[in-house]
Amino acid sequence: MAKLNVNGTMRDVDVEDDTPLLWVLREQLGLTGTKYGCGIAQCGACTVHIDGVPTRSCVRPVSSVAPNEKIVTIEGLSPDGSHPVQKAWAALDVPQCGYCQCGMIMAATALLKAKPQPSDADIDEAITNICRCGTYNRIRAAIKVVAQGGNTRSAALAIQHPDGSIT
Ligand code: FES
Ligand code: FES
Repeated sequence: MAKLNVNGTMRDVDVEDDTPLLWVLREQLGLTGTKYGCGIAQCGACTVHIDGVPTRSCVRPVSSVAPNEKIVTIEGLSPDGSHPVQKAWAALDVPQCGYCQCGMIMAATALLKAKPQPSDADIDEAITNICRCGTYNRIRAAIKVVAQGGNTRSAALAIQHPDGSIT
């Protein structure tokens, strides 16, 4: 049995102590935005925040998370996809297949909270997640859009804006 604070709600789950947090989130709590990729802390698809720290939940035994530690999943970022990082991701059409993207967004959100104006080196250091579709350039651009207050023109990508212009 474990007691977890997930997206602001206390949840009781009946699982073995060594069950990875990822599977508790997905199978006990139905929070399927957090994905399984490698299971060995390499790909980052399973990234959630624990007290604001991006954490690979596939290798985190549920018993190692205390009830007072705040877990946030992609579902907890915003009720309607309106978090600035999610908005930048949508504006720049970052996802391809999408499988890695929830983990990417969680990693990017933590980075931007710690460093609101991250350098390329900061992004390289923080975003170690793997995307087999190769969306890395747009991820970098979307992070910079958030750092510029949501100004998509700062992305230097050929994207269509709400006024119809393309820059
Ligand atoms: S599934 Fe956790 S890092 Fe790949
Ligand atoms: S968008 Fe397909 S794996 Fe990243």
